[in-house]
Amino acid sequence: MNESILITGANTGLGQEAARQLALKKETKRVILFCRNQAKAEVAKKELEEKTGKRIFEIVIGDVSDTNSVRKAVEKIKEPIDAIILNAGGMVGKTAAKITPSGMNELAATNILGHVVLVDELLKQDKLKKAVLFVSAEAVPGVKPLGMKPVAMKTSTVDEFAAVLDGTYFGNKFDVTQAYGYVKYVGTMWALSMARKYPDIKFIVVSPGNTKGTNAPDSLPAPMRFMLKNFMMPIVFPLMGGMVHKIEVGVKRFVDGISDERYKSGVFYASKEGKLSGDMVDQSTFFTALKNTTFQDNADKAIHRFIK
Ligand SMILES: NC(=O)c1ccc[n+]([C@@H]2O[C@H](COP(=O)([O-])OP(=O)(O)OC[C@H]3O[C@@H](n4cnc5c(N)ncnc54)[C@H](OP(=O)(O)O)[C@@H]3O)[C@@H](O)[C@H]2O)c1
Repeated sequence: MNESILITGANTGLGQEAARQLALKKETKRVILFCRNQAKAEVAKKELEEKTGKRIFEIVIGDVSDTNSVRKAVEKIKEPIDAIILNAGGMVGKTAAKITPSGMNELAATNILGHVVLVDELLKQDKLKKAVLFVSAEAVPGVKPLGMKPVAMKTSTVDEFAAVLDGTYFGNKFDVTQAYGYVKYVGTMWALSMARKYPDIKFIVVSPGNTKGTNAPDSLPAPMRFMLKNFMMPIVFPLMGGMVHKIEVGVKRFVDGISDERYKSGVFYASKEGKLSGDMVDQSTFFTALKNTTFQDNADKAIHRFIK
């Protein structure tokens, strides 16, 4: 049972809804909203208190694309936490390819860098007790009916993973919609590697599926955003079946993943092959690279090249 939970990117979208759903569980005594903006975090906290009738929310300010910011945030956390949901991220927007001081581009730094530092620091200080959930996406195994190709790395060496993180893997053709799947793959493999290193902590990877009602489409390039908001989400996906769901449904996957013992450490759970909604299944049954422990450890090593 998780009595205390920290959620990154908890001021809006899936993160805020996760804070709401988890706060309503009877065992939950403390929910930490890890956000980069104090004003947005205060608004979200007030909304959550109103919606749940609970006064169990705390704010910790930190930017997950910035190592120092995350380290400072960890210093503010005095009591150990049972579970954390590494949710902040997405496609980031126009600055996705920009190199941050860590050497990772902003897309990778936001989805991975600060999350790895957060977990490393909490573990070092004995402040993380039971479970870690890394938020991934069906962009990793791909979605054939939509023409979305699976991640296909040639060697999955440390160098190749590092090239994904600094963007050189993509040469001059950095397409954020493609790079996103590769970045989530690196983060996923890191979490699976951690599951073997820390057998007493549940390290699980979950995709929320294609979820309506978040700000995610806002960071897409304009033509794609227009198509998604006006055509794909309201018309095409519902017609196809098993391709989209409400935010409550997407977030229930996080709540189940982190709380329910049926979901096991060291597994990436997401939709069935070719789907973006419905039951969650182990992705390694059809995307077999996930099972390769050398690849998993290579992802971990590549990430740590950027952490000083
Ligand atoms: N929506 C989907 O269909 C879908 C599908 C698969 C996976 N996902 C994943 O689910 C997660 C949440 O996505 P969402 O749809 O809820 O997106 P969202 O509505 O855009 O929310 C993203 C959250 O991350 C925060 N964030 C972004 N950069 C940050 C940084 N550097 N430091 C701290 N917080 C930061 C944002 O804070 P600000 O408000 O300050 O920007 C916001 O709270 C992402 O990891 C995304 O890749 C989403």
